[in-house]
Amino acid sequence: MRTIDELPDLRGKRVLVRVDFNVPLTATGAVADDTRIRAALPTLETLRARGAALVLVSHLGRPSGREPEFSLGPVAAALSERLGTPVTLASGCVGETVAAEVAALGEGDVLLLENVRFEPGETGNDPTLAAALAGLVDVYVNDAFGAAHRAHASTHGVATLVPLRAAGLLLEREVTTLTTLLEQPDRPLVAVIGGAKVSDKITVIDRFRERADTILIGGAMAFPFLRAQGHTVGASLCGEEDTRLAEATLASWAGSRAVLQLPVDLVLGDHFGADADPVPLDGLDVPEAMMGLDIGPRTVAAYAAVIAAAGTVFWNGPMGAFELPPFAAGTRGVAEAVADAPGITVVGGGDSAAAIAQFGLAERVTHLSTGGGAALELIEGRELPGVEVLR
Ligand code: 3PG
Repeated sequence: MRTIDELPDLRGKRVLVRVDFNVPLTATGAVADDTRIRAALPTLETLRARGAALVLVSHLGRPSGREPEFSLGPVAAALSERLGTPVTLASGCVGETVAAEVAALGEGDVLLLENVRFEPGETGNDPTLAAALAGLVDVYVNDAFGAAHRAHASTHGVATLVPLRAAGLLLEREVTTLTTLLEQPDRPLVAVIGGAKVSDKITVIDRFRERADTILIGGAMAFPFLRAQGHTVGASLCGEEDTRLAEATLASWAGSRAVLQLPVDLVLGDHFGADADPVPLDGLDVPEAMMGLDIGPRTVAAYAAVIAAAGTVFWNGPMGAFELPPFAAGTRGVAEAVADAPGITVVGGGDSAAAIAQFGLAERVTHLSTGGGAALELIEGRELPGVEVLR
């Protein structure tokens, strides 16, 4: 994969940078979490320092057509503040007016194209849109790791049409970190896998089965495994398909490299809500009217000990309903163990990234991935179209 360090002199060049500025907005339309904007700064600063004029392209949300609430206007303002330089929001994404706006750029200038998903051809990887984007610039850089699993016009099609193309620093770091974790981890390698459903994570579990030394399971996806072991799960989230998957996984586990560790105690509630009373269960058989909403303190202690002894930790998925304060302790305990761990710690995007940020521990992990779906697909061993096209 060619990186931006290998690009020739960029003075006087227009560089299209695909960034993932798909950030959450507040009710009043301001940027609620600028992690992805900050993560793109090293690439943008490097390219500007090398004399490039930057044309940034990103999606925001999943608009159907040109819906004003999906405008990248708030992102332009937030980026401008972070970069310490004006960032102009283009009038659109492609077309004559945009071409004139791009042509007017000087060295170090930054123009943010309007949401690329306002263009009907983006998600279908339309060659006409890809050609229009390619026609704006001399060089293409992809730094949008969070969107690298999408074969869209701005992540894939355009890259096939610009001969000078490279991976940005963030994309490179994400791919290298996650690939090294799978292929040459410092051992022991511990995978902490949580979340709601076994079916969402079964491929990830299967990938770690022969690569990791221990897999720690938490979140609602523990219940199909516990049910498969003969425990009662009460009203816990526990689908039939997930139970079948868990049964098959346990039945075929013998001989696998990794030890599969399940919770040993739980925290229950009588309904899913912030007003539910947390009821500790020093065991695993959930009574009929109750549901498991968190892992218990003995589980947290056991998992924390494994995490503390790890050479590398990969964590994806919360340990319980951490968004409900009475049931956040398990996820917080694991987040603290990951933050304190002396080994390399990698947190997959999505909910686990949100959890670690909520607990104020984001700065204390080695690598916090900016890609939820993209990170999981890479771990699953799937090719990321946005990365493959740069090879
Ligand atoms: C994400 O937030 O996971 C990425 O920006 C991709 O967004 P998408 O799932 O709408 O393609």
